Amino acid sequence: MPAWHASILTLYPDMFPGPLGLSLSGRALESGLWQCDTVNIRGFAADRHRTVDDTPAGGGAGMVLRADVLASAIDAAAPDNDTRPRLMMSPRGRPLTQRRVRELVAGPGVVLVCGRFEGVDQRVIDGRGLEEVSIGDYVLSGGEVAAMAVLDACIRLIPGVMGTQASGEDESFENGLLEYPHYTRPALWEGTAIPEVLTSGDHAAVARWRHDQALRLTRERRPDLLTDDDATGRTS
Ligand code: ADE
Repeated sequence: MPAWHASILTLYPDMFPGPLGLSLSGRALESGLWQCDTVNIRGFAADRHRTVDDTPAGGGAGMVLRADVLASAIDAAAPDNDTRPRLMMSPRGRPLTQRRVRELVAGPGVVLVCGRFEGVDQRVIDGRGLEEVSIGDYVLSGGEVAAMAVLDACIRLIPGVMGTQASGEDESFENGLLEYPHYTRPALWEGTAIPEVLTSGDHAAVARWRHDQALRLTRERRPDLLTDDDATGRTS
């Protein structure tokens, strides 16, 4: 099977693989479990000044990434027969969920478009079928850091990347809940002991305690998760 393939369209190709070249994702990259290429959007500017943006139609502040330039970059990176989803990083996109991450990992890879400036000409978003994706309700200076977050979330789920598959199933969001608290030695630290049940050897009691804690944390911090099956793909 060909490696999971990420193509990143950006004005700053030197940012990649960046942190993804280290640690878990870096080792997976070296061993060929995923592959990554960058396309410099500026390389598709047609004029001698290599212009990629222009002033917004209708007026206003900031600059807008040109449709023609970005479309040429997309067409070069992902021709018509390339079935990979095309995601554009944008704070107005649909929030990324663990469910969407799992879908992306199950496919051949992704094409990630990193915006800069105030925005991207709507015609290229529509014309090239770009799915706008947000990584949270805050504004980054560009899509690159968001793209890295998307890739990191996907790469760790590629079969063979994580040591033990179990650690991917018990974690936050995978069962629709936030993760329970963890403890390890020393048994007593700064006057606080590990909860007794965890050292009792009673596996059923441990499982019950962890589930209760997960529920408590989710109620406190993310009550929306308890009613929003969509975010997690939970079916029960
Ligand atoms: N670009 C700027 N801010 C972003 C965000 N929150 N998510 C995705 N892309 C972005």
